[in-house]
Amino acid sequence: MGAYEDVFRAAVEDREGFWLQQAQALEWHRAPTKALDESNPPFYRWFPDGELNVAHNALDRHVAAGRGDQAALVYDSPVTDTKRTYTYGELTEEVALFAGVLRGLGVGVGDRVVVYMPMVPEAAIAMLACARLGAVHSVVFGGFAAKELAVRIDDAAPTVIVSASCGIEGKRVIEYKPLLDKAIELATHKPGKRVVLQRPQAPAQLGPDDLDWADAVSQASPADPVPVKATDPLYVLYTSGTTGKPKGVVRDGGGYATALAWTMPNVYDVGPGQTIFTASDVGWVVGHSYIVYAPLLAGATTVLYEGKPVGTPDAGQFWRVMSEYGVRSMFTAPTAFRALKKEDPDGSFARKYDLSALKYLFLAGERLDPETYRWASELLDIPVIDHWWQTETGWPIVADPAGIELLPIKPGSPTKPLPGWDVQVLDTDGTPVPAGEDGAIVVKLPLPPGAFPTLWNDDERFVSSYMSAFDGYYLTGDGGRIDDDGYVFVMGRTDDVINVAGHRLSTGGMEEVLASHPAVAECAVIGVADQMKGQVPRGFVVLKAGADPDPEQLRAELVAMVRDQVGAVASLKEIAVVGALPKTRSGKILRKTMRGIADGTDEPVPSTIENADVLDALRPVLRKE
Ligand code: COA
Ligand code: AMP
Repeated sequence: MGAYEDVFRAAVEDREGFWLQQAQALEWHRAPTKALDESNPPFYRWFPDGELNVAHNALDRHVAAGRGDQAALVYDSPVTDTKRTYTYGELTEEVALFAGVLRGLGVGVGDRVVVYMPMVPEAAIAMLACARLGAVHSVVFGGFAAKELAVRIDDAAPTVIVSASCGIEGKRVIEYKPLLDKAIELATHKPGKRVVLQRPQAPAQLGPDDLDWADAVSQASPADPVPVKATDPLYVLYTSGTTGKPKGVVRDGGGYATALAWTMPNVYDVGPGQTIFTASDVGWVVGHSYIVYAPLLAGATTVLYEGKPVGTPDAGQFWRVMSEYGVRSMFTAPTAFRALKKEDPDGSFARKYDLSALKYLFLAGERLDPETYRWASELLDIPVIDHWWQTETGWPIVADPAGIELLPIKPGSPTKPLPGWDVQVLDTDGTPVPAGEDGAIVVKLPLPPGAFPTLWNDDERFVSSYMSAFDGYYLTGDGGRIDDDGYVFVMGRTDDVINVAGHRLSTGGMEEVLASHPAVAECAVIGVADQMKGQVPRGFVVLKAGADPDPEQLRAELVAMVRDQVGAVASLKEIAVVGALPKTRSGKILRKTMRGIADGTDEPVPSTIENADVLDALRPVLRKE
């Protein structure tokens, strides 16, 4: 039997022993004597009697072990022409000081801190400072608009908000402070102070409740790590569900740190002193796990890159970063490689740099299309590893475990389940489907450490959204199959969640915005295939009787509303005014059928259709004929 099979089986046959052993990679204030508390399913808790501090494990522990002078975090920002390396010693000091700032503002164990920041090292420092105090950070992606931020502020009820004066998108400077002010105005919960990092590209006007980051730090005294329970929340990260209300995915500290520490050598094959470059954003789970926590827990060096793969200044930046810092594993979303391929199809930029240190390219966040896989593999001549996971899971469910054993790659499949994940494919009635047939991808409970124990303040939604479709299983929301060799194929979401340039968005949330326009009677937003972004949303609106707006103006207004209320990242640019929407006899809009027609996959039209004539009329619009 291969090494992968051995490790996978060990985690099945002795779950307690396996995870207690992995937990020993960390330093515990109180070592756990028990791995899993199964007394209250589906609310499983990992390491119930353990106590630790995750920031201590990510920072101080390495300084104490003699790694103080090693690079912990490299900030590389071509858009501001800045490079800065923080050693473990320096990062520990900065985090301790900022923890002192937060403590001075009344932040203690369990208090929430919202972080709304661009890709600057201070974003990671703020996250780790919260972890140091046992406080709970909730990072909100900078591309979300004020209203989305307000919804998250209301749900998380933070004591403090940490932000920056601006972000930089290519050549554009995006002022964050007006968005933050508007969000606070819209929110019902009023946080105390805000700490604002002033950036020279657009310093913000500070008000009476705002503190300048630099001033606050200059007056702070460092705070020590506070040991907390392994089951205490480390962070809440909001993600899109099928409705406009985001889900607050809770992450506990002990299980998460254990799982991440396991993945670094076993999946990403990165050890202490080696470098990983994850090109994502701290606002997404990929950024939480593989820009911030996992590399630091492993004593590795992480690259925090501010910029896009293409554009400012050119399509060579990823390659430059990899060569300059001797990156061993790179991780990004397939869409970034599609952008590179479009700009530089023959890879001439890549060939300018010495990429001899690069051993693997990891891709996740959306389906890896075989063409992008082929292009990247041929260009780099290293394993290109697709792997599948979600905000909810915190770390990969299915991957090629490069650090244990590189399994043969099948393009289109992220390979096999990692230890701890019992992945199955079920039919709608809950029976397992035969190998090779499509169904709902589920995971048998309990989920392994690191996966979400619940939703913030919403145990009920945790159960209704994920745990009740099939008794004893976690519903991933993805559909796909497992082949005869045990390879998992993830084909796409079975709900109304879409993935635009690797960004997870809710079509339901966009529909709520469109429906609020006075001329709109009803609407549907579907995600359709897009060459560059994987998927993009398309909107269809039906007008209220008597409404007669100028169609062009209406479209512009609706596009602006979504941009203003959800954020630019929604990328809703196409909206069609139609006579009616196709529905089932029970009134459900046939979004899946519409999507099939638009994508040319022509899903079968359900027999429950109420108005086949409407669908016929819509066909040319969907196909853009
Ligand atoms: N703050 C403010 N605005 C933001 C933003 C942020 N943090 N992130 C994105 N936006 C804006 C963009 O500027 C763009 O605005 P525009 O419509 O005015 O041009 C819009 O949101 C859409 O952004 P995006 O979907 O990222 O498209 P893009 O054309 O700017 O870039 C890629 C496309 C593929 C280059 C980029 O998305 C990318 O590098 N993605 C891969 C990595 C990644 O982040 N993955 C996420 C999870 S792994
Ligand atoms: P997020 O929670 O933002 O990480 O998005 C998770 C969703 O992205 C999953 O439910 C999938 O639909 C999709 N996804 C992530 N990785 C992959 C992958 N490797 N292959 C196919 N889909 C993926």
